[in-house]
Amino acid sequence: MDRFQILGGRSLRGTVAVRPAKNALLPCLAAGLLTSDPVVFEETADLQDIHSMVGLLRHLGSEVEGVPGGAVRVRTPDVVEPEAPYDLVRRMRASILVLGPLLARFGRARVSLPGGCAIGARPIDLHIRGLETLGARITVDHGYVRASAERLRGSEILFDKVTVGGTENLIMAAVLARGETVLRNAAREPEIADLCRLLTAMGARIEGAGTHTVKISGVEELGGAIHTCIPDRIETGTLAAAAVVTGGDVELAGVVPEHVEAFLGKLRSMGIQIETGERRIRVRGAAGIRSADITTQPYPGYPTDLQAQFMALLTRASGSGAVRETIFENRFMHVPELQRMGADIRIEGNVAVVRGPTPLSGAPVMASDLRASAGLLLAALCAEGSTEIHRIYHLDRGYERLDERLNALGARIHRVRE
Ligand code: EPU
Repeated sequence: MDRFQILGGRSLRGTVAVRPAKNALLPCLAAGLLTSDPVVFEETADLQDIHSMVGLLRHLGSEVEGVPGGAVRVRTPDVVEPEAPYDLVRRMRASILVLGPLLARFGRARVSLPGGCAIGARPIDLHIRGLETLGARITVDHGYVRASAERLRGSEILFDKVTVGGTENLIMAAVLARGETVLRNAAREPEIADLCRLLTAMGARIEGAGTHTVKISGVEELGGAIHTCIPDRIETGTLAAAAVVTGGDVELAGVVPEHVEAFLGKLRSMGIQIETGERRIRVRGAAGIRSADITTQPYPGYPTDLQAQFMALLTRASGSGAVRETIFENRFMHVPELQRMGADIRIEGNVAVVRGPTPLSGAPVMASDLRASAGLLLAALCAEGSTEIHRIYHLDRGYERLDERLNALGARIHRVRE
């Protein structure tokens, strides 16, 4: 397992280009199962999760050309066996996103239940209930979801809770269903609008993408398309936070500033200077920043995937900042590690109160999940001395060569390969 050795205290300067969004690429790649024609992604990201999704598509029978990081072409004339086995799903929960497309196009699917993970229980009951409403017969046994249907039929689905993956799975199922489907209380994340843009290019009929109510009129079949996914808004926020905690001056290129409005709004309220332009954001760190509170919420609220990073930021700000996590029940795993570096954090239920500014000092720490690792990395960048972050495979799942890209801005991160 690789680890990072980070020498803190160096301010970051320069320009960095943000890579395509992991959480847009994953459903979009799964959408490749919906047609026998090629679906081409002009640019992908070289991430462990993208390799896993490509591996899953190949396992199902898709022909995949190209390598994650560059252009990738997916063509699925047929599936060999519509099954996502435990071994693949265990490595990447987003494997569940093949359930909707397999069922819609081939009328059957068998997908391992993902189970819980480091950040919470993460059930898929809303995916299952939604697919049943579209007429699928679903059984859950021996750790697998087994689904079948002649042809799905459009219906009205009201999600009890906002779910990103549930909305994506249901949209991909409904595009080939007979008649109209209306999804209410749908997730509004930019990744969903991006998936709908691809599906529309493939011939799907979708209205209201990116709003609470999505209407889908099923079509008989879909064709190929060429797609470029949106830039990663969580990477955008993480890199912006890196500029702030190091007192640096960084320009983020190829971004969509509106996708990170809730995050940038918080930075501005803390006294941080932000300039936005056409596909660019410039962030300048400064002394004397003030604390702020956040509550994680579905988009357009403050994203849970930028919660750990915000905590690292709060250790640099003066005053108390309350971080309320409402999406996942167990997403404070980074807190004990940040405390070991000197952070003053108190947890009560789903609220963590960070008091700053506190000097951080380098220490050996353990990454527990993708975004927790990003929070630890930010703390390490501004800590005095050297920090060793273990288990950075979590970080590699969602950030492409982050060590090299931060080093190009002046950081000192050494990857120890094992
Ligand atoms: N939920 C249910 N039942 C369901 C589905 C979800 O109770 O059937 C609950 C979840 O347990 C959670 C909440 O609803 O408490 C929201 O979960 P959601 O379904 O929206 O999350 P997801 O689709 O599993 C995606 C991202 C996550 C991101 C969340 C929230 C992908 C591949 N993953 O997960 O990204 O945190 O939305 O925005 O898009 C990450 O990239 O690090 C990551 C974890």
